[in-house]
Amino acid sequence: MSFSATTLTGSKPAQYAQLLAQARALLHGERDRIANAANLSALVYQALPNLNWVGFYFYDGTELVVGPFQGLPACVRIPLDKGVCGAAARTRQTQRIEDVHAFPGHIACDSASNSELVVPLVGADGALLGVFDLDSPLPARFDVEDQQGLEAIARAYVESLQ
Ligand code: SME
Repeated sequence: MSFSATTLTGSKPAQYAQLLAQARALLHGERDRIANAANLSALVYQALPNLNWVGFYFYDGTELVVGPFQGLPACVRIPLDKGVCGAAARTRQTQRIEDVHAFPGHIACDSASNSELVVPLVGADGALLGVFDLDSPLPARFDVEDQQGLEAIARAYVESLQ
């Protein structure tokens, strides 16, 4: 299979609809969590501007362990009581952080990061699977439309595993 990335066009919700369709096509017919996380990280990192890290952390029953990603090497293990990723995992609420330096306990894996969006990944049975994490060098890079678009992509990932 070869994948050709098409440029996203139109309004931001329209662009996210196109990106979701590309994500679904990419994940179609495959249930392996590593393979799907790897391809999704690459797709999103290539498609969206102003990102310096996109990837997955998986919950091992105790803490978050880094999975497939694009960007600089990252912290391997994150306890649930630490950082933006830990907060998303613990609360099961998306964390949309305009200024990571103002977030108590933020873990600076890449000093270029200034804003961050972390979406919890929760299975159909309610089990915590991990988090989908995006970092940007821009302050306040992610707005509500980005959050909704990336939550839909995270749902597509969880659905692909079933
Ligand atoms: N900044 C994150 C850590 C993960 S890296 O950004 C890849 C946090 O505070 O949870």
